[in-house]
Amino acid sequence: MTDLTNSPAWQQLIKDFEKTRTQQMYDQFSTDPTRTEKFSLRAAELYLDYSKNRINNETLQHLVALAEAAHLPEHIENLFTGKAVNFTEQRAAWHTSLRDPTALQPEIHSTLQRMHLFCSALHSDHWRGYSGKPITDVVNLGIGGSDLGPRMVVDTLSALSNKKIKVHFVANVDGSELYNTLKNLNPETTLFIVASKTFTTVETLLNATTARTWLLNKVVERKKADAITHHFVAITVHADRAIKFGISADNIFSFSDWVGGRYSLWSAIGLPIMIAIGVDAFLQLLNGAHCMDQHFRNAPLAQNMPVILALLGIWYTNFYRCQTQAIIPYDQNLALFPNYLQQLDMESNGKSVNVNDEIIDYPTAPIIWGGVGTNGQHAFHQLLHQGQFLLPVDFIIALDNHHPWPEHHDLLYANCLAQSQALLQGRTQKQAYYELLAEGYDETKAKKLAPHKMLPGNRPSNTLVMKKLTPTTLGALIALYEHKVFTQGIIWQINSFDQYGVEVGKQLATSLSKALKEDMDMSAYDSSTQVLVNLFKKK
Ligand code: F6P
Repeated sequence: MTDLTNSPAWQQLIKDFEKTRTQQMYDQFSTDPTRTEKFSLRAAELYLDYSKNRINNETLQHLVALAEAAHLPEHIENLFTGKAVNFTEQRAAWHTSLRDPTALQPEIHSTLQRMHLFCSALHSDHWRGYSGKPITDVVNLGIGGSDLGPRMVVDTLSALSNKKIKVHFVANVDGSELYNTLKNLNPETTLFIVASKTFTTVETLLNATTARTWLLNKVVERKKADAITHHFVAITVHADRAIKFGISADNIFSFSDWVGGRYSLWSAIGLPIMIAIGVDAFLQLLNGAHCMDQHFRNAPLAQNMPVILALLGIWYTNFYRCQTQAIIPYDQNLALFPNYLQQLDMESNGKSVNVNDEIIDYPTAPIIWGGVGTNGQHAFHQLLHQGQFLLPVDFIIALDNHHPWPEHHDLLYANCLAQSQALLQGRTQKQAYYELLAEGYDETKAKKLAPHKMLPGNRPSNTLVMKKLTPTTLGALIALYEHKVFTQGIIWQINSFDQYGVEVGKQLATSLSKALKEDMDMSAYDSSTQVLVNLFKKK
């Protein structure tokens, strides 16, 4: 056992679990009419209803005690003051300073200024392509944190996107994504952003190389030399590598290595966001996150929204042994949010060694999955209601919408609440039986069908409500989950800011891509890989 699972706070929660595991949430609502008032929070324009969870006052206090035992407030201060919280790479993870208007690092303000000037030059046609035409399309070439955050924010705030310049995202090394994007674009009016913190990511560099060829193939010989300058910018920590690729120094937006990839949309990596939605909306996004930062830094743990989400996640992951966490936004504009959270959560906390270099004896990050409502109701909600797994759900919804049809939003909102209520109350076999009789089934048939229509209920969900999905509330929502992930990492005593697990695959891919092209001794490979390589070579 590690010192965490052996700790008094953890041992107390094991007792709590044994004592409360069969409690029915529905009964708790019946006996305590103030339950929702007690188990809800407001912060940074978000409202969290966490009353539909398998907790009571005592459990919640003991979960907060777990956070206190982890010295969470001290770690929060370390995060906000740029200490080396990334303890394997000896770096800070100072993404909070990127959205703090009082931040002291000069490079933050100068980079924002440069981003703003660049966007203005694009939108005012001051920046033009090699043939003198204005830019109409921007293609962001990046992957992971250099893609998911900007792509999600641009998609989420598409209602704010300017019509003049369309922003596209290409991440996959599968040539289909780049091909399908470029086939409709004009090289004279297309600008590429090569977004890569390390500027060594194979997928991004191959996409950038192919894009460069696509451009230069269309450029007359005498204009080839400076075409790159008109059509390529880079966002990276390593400007020297971008220059070596052929991008001029003036076209490089740098950021610090203490910005983690999956926490980088607030940095220069956010340039495609600013191009799409404008500088004011980008600053509102930063401000929304900053509001959640201030809440996280200052609120007592028991009234701290990211901490509560984190503790509930630990309660289900480590005590109920739930292996997944569903994110179900009832908002089509948040369709990419679950996908974004997969990297944020699973790449941060999908770890098995703790700060004491010990292999840990408890689960950490759950599998993050999800999809938009109401679509999920016609896809995977059946399993939520009658499947064998206990699957905690975060519902996310806004009170107002971005379209002129209120009846649509009324139905969307009603469905979101209905799903959460159905998970809570279920439907007993007896209720199903009498419903079937009322529908006209005879007793024999009703008795036979009733078990198939029973829903166990007592299935937990959180409901996050915002007045409207805006740059400000989106910024707060993203920061909420960033700090939830950080809090869980601290309690699990793991490093949320490295990602050594992805390196082996990259190394193997490098040697295998060589094996596909050349005749080489494959005897060191397993027979499966050998056969699969040969299938490709003999296609
Ligand atoms: O997935 C590994 C990873 O390093 C992520 O952490 C990162 O966001 C992504 O690859 C892209 O890295 P880069 O921005 O350096 O190209």
